[in-house]
Amino acid sequence: MSKPVILTGLRANNDLHLGNYLGALLPIVELQKAYAGEYQVNLFVPDLHSFTTPIDHSKLYDQTMHNLKIFVATGLNLDDKDSYIYRQSYIPAHSELTVILNCFTYMGELSRMTQFKEKGQGKQGISAGLFDYPVLMAADILLYGAKYVPVGADQTQHVELARDIAIRVNNKFGELFTPPEPENAQIEFANKQQRLRIRDLVNPEKKMSKSDETGKGVIFLGDSPEIASKKIVGSTTDSIGSVNYDYEKQPGISNLLDIFAALSGESIESVISKYKGQSQYGQLKKDVAEVVSKFLSNFQSKLNSVDESALLSKLEYSEKTMNHTANHTLLNVQNAVGLRKE
Ligand code: TYM
Repeated sequence: MSKPVILTGLRANNDLHLGNYLGALLPIVELQKAYAGEYQVNLFVPDLHSFTTPIDHSKLYDQTMHNLKIFVATGLNLDDKDSYIYRQSYIPAHSELTVILNCFTYMGELSRMTQFKEKGQGKQGISAGLFDYPVLMAADILLYGAKYVPVGADQTQHVELARDIAIRVNNKFGELFTPPEPENAQIEFANKQQRLRIRDLVNPEKKMSKSDETGKGVIFLGDSPEIASKKIVGSTTDSIGSVNYDYEKQPGISNLLDIFAALSGESIESVISKYKGQSQYGQLKKDVAEVVSKFLSNFQSKLNSVDESALLSKLEYSEKTMNHTANHTLLNVQNAVGLRKE
C-alpha cells in the first residue's frame, strides 16, 4: 500500500528568504519528522515555475541546485526512504498534465487568483505563464495524490484551486485524482493556528517576497547576520508605543513577534509578556535581531557542510522513482480523456 503524501515546492527565482523558510520549508521538514514512517514526503524545486516573472536565466540552474542544498540544511532527512527531492522539469509529466488540466480550468478562476492580480498589477507584458501557473501547481500536487500541502498563506488559494480541479475532473471521468484536503484539515494536520504570512520589514503591509527589487525589507537565507540585524533594527514599526499582536493596527510589530516566536519556538503570548509596559521598541528589535542572527549563522554553517554527493544520489534516485509514479498517474488521465487505450 502506498503511503499518503505530504508535498511542497519552492521556486528558485532568487535566494530563499525567511518567509519561505518559516512558511513552507520548516513546516514540511517538521512534518517529515513528526510523521516518519507514516507519510511520503515530496519536496521539490518547481524550476519551470521560476520564470513566471522575469529572472536572470543564467543563474537559474545554480540557484536550483543551491535550493536543494537549502532543503538539507533545514534538516530534511535524506536517509528517509519515504522522502523524495526532485526538480519539476526533470519529470516531464508535470508539463503534460498541465496542458490537459488547462482544458478543465476556467479563465474566470485564474483571473481571481490574488497572486496573479498582485504580481501583474501595474506591470506591462504579463506572461501567460504567470496567469497559468496555478494549473501547473495543480499538476504538481495531483500527479502524486498529495493530501497535505504545507505552504505560506499566499499559496492557500492555489491549493484550493487544485482541489477544485481534482474534484471537477473526478466528477467527469471517475476517481483519477486524490484531491488535497480542505484548508481547515491542512491547518489541523500541520498543528498550526494558521498559515504564515511573514511581512516585508520596510513595508509591513505587504508580504516578504523574493521578487522585491531592493531586498531591504527581506531577510535572505544568505544574508550575513550583520546585514540581517541592520534590516531588523531599521524595520518599520509604528508610534503606538506598546507591543501587541494586531496586524490591523501594528503590522510591523506583529511581524517581528511572528518571526521571534517562529524562530525561538515560543508562543506569541510568551514573547509579548517580555515587553509588557515598555513604550519603546528598541529592546524588541534588538532581541529579534539576535534570534535571527543566531539562526542565520547556525543555518549557514549547516549549509556549508551539506554532503553534496549524498544529495546528488538522492536526487537521481528520487527523479527516477517520481517519473515512474507521475507517468502512471498521467497514463490513467490520458486513458480517461481518450488520448490512449492502454
Ligand atoms: P514560492 O516559491 O513563491 O514560495 C515558496 C513557499 O514559501 C511561501 N512563502 C511565504 N510564507 C510565509 N511568508 C511569506 N512572506 C512567504 N513568501 C513565500 C509560499 O507560500 C510557498 O509555500 N507556486 C508556489 C510554488 C509551488 C508549489 C507547488 C507549492 C509550485 N508548485 C506545489 C506547493 C505545491 C510558489 O510560487 O511559491
